[in-house]
Amino acid sequence: MAVPFIDLKRWEPGFQDAWQKKVRELSESAQFIGGPEVAGLEADLVRETGAKHCIGCANGTDALQLALRAAGVGRGDTVLLPDATFWATFEAVVNVGADPVTVDIDMTDLQMDYDLFVQAVRTHKPKAAMLVHLYGWGSRRLEDYRQFCRENHVILIEDGAQAYGATYKGNSLYKDALLSTVSFYPAKVLGGAGDAGAVFTSSDEYAERLRSLGNHGRATHYSYGLVGWNSRISAFQAAYIRLSIPHVKSRIESRRAAVKQYRTHLGELPSVRPPEGFEENGYLYCILYNPSERSSVEARLKEKGIGFANTYPGSMSSQAGAKGYIKAAVGGDNARKLAESILNPPLFPYMTDAEVSEVVQSLRPKAAPFVG
Ligand SMILES: Cc1ncc(COP(=O)(O)O)c(C=O)c1O
Repeated sequence: MAVPFIDLKRWEPGFQDAWQKKVRELSESAQFIGGPEVAGLEADLVRETGAKHCIGCANGTDALQLALRAAGVGRGDTVLLPDATFWATFEAVVNVGADPVTVDIDMTDLQMDYDLFVQAVRTHKPKAAMLVHLYGWGSRRLEDYRQFCRENHVILIEDGAQAYGATYKGNSLYKDALLSTVSFYPAKVLGGAGDAGAVFTSSDEYAERLRSLGNHGRATHYSYGLVGWNSRISAFQAAYIRLSIPHVKSRIESRRAAVKQYRTHLGELPSVRPPEGFEENGYLYCILYNPSERSSVEARLKEKGIGFANTYPGSMSSQAGAKGYIKAAVGGDNARKLAESILNPPLFPYMTDAEVSEVVQSLRPKAAPFVG
């Protein structure tokens, strides 16, 4: 049986009908920009995450750029970020005119290495840092990062593109962040029907700047207090995400159930677990292979029609596009090693037991099937 890496079409019964009805309503009212769906989504997300402010925007990359700009990060400033992340984190730093310094990762949680980070702050004196909550959990040193940055006047921006629904000590990761972001790219845990994103902040001042920056720096409709750009979230995206919110709990539970099966039946393969205190959202399951073994596993998966990903296949500091921008790369080569060894099996809401069993069988051909 073929199993895709992700299937975005497993909607709950009635979801498509509700969406079609909403599209008709929005189209008939021509309420395309702003309006009740956008305000409603921001209010829903504040309620769901416990964050103080939420500002919708065009995508998760813009959310990072808005957060950097709101914090006053620009030309000549240094920004630290992990060497293992999605390219958008690096790109956002460069796009606001700042100089990126990558920091290697901790192989126990696959997040930025805290000790190296502290060392990098002392050496490079950054204005800001991007802590990325990768794979559906976060750093085991999350509290240390927040405290250290507060005490050392480093503005901490948390890239939570992948972290919707993940919790730390029972709270959403956005709740206690100074500035954090989310992506509603359709494949994310809370996905849109296209591109969308949001920034969360605990600061009233940042909230005001974020709202203005993402709407051409407007003070009033035709007066501009800042130079921003158009990063408004579409009313269609806001409406689609609002319709999805009531289902996200069951989508996450179903992702977690598949993760649980993987952990039970693939226990012998080296996989990474979220650190203590985190409950993962089931965004990705991470198996770390010996690189020479990984290619034969991938060949077997391809032959059987089982989808997989390598998230991500290259570190930031090794990208051709980093040349001319990267100021320094701090630490060793864990990010590169991770890129060579990671394999993510299929994981999406409402995977059937038979599909999970098929993936397990393909990864461990000698294991007994647990279903079917
Ligand atoms: C860690 C991380 N940061 C930033 C982004 C950018 O989000 P978007 O694709 O919505 O621009 C993504 C997702 O694609 C991501 O995974």
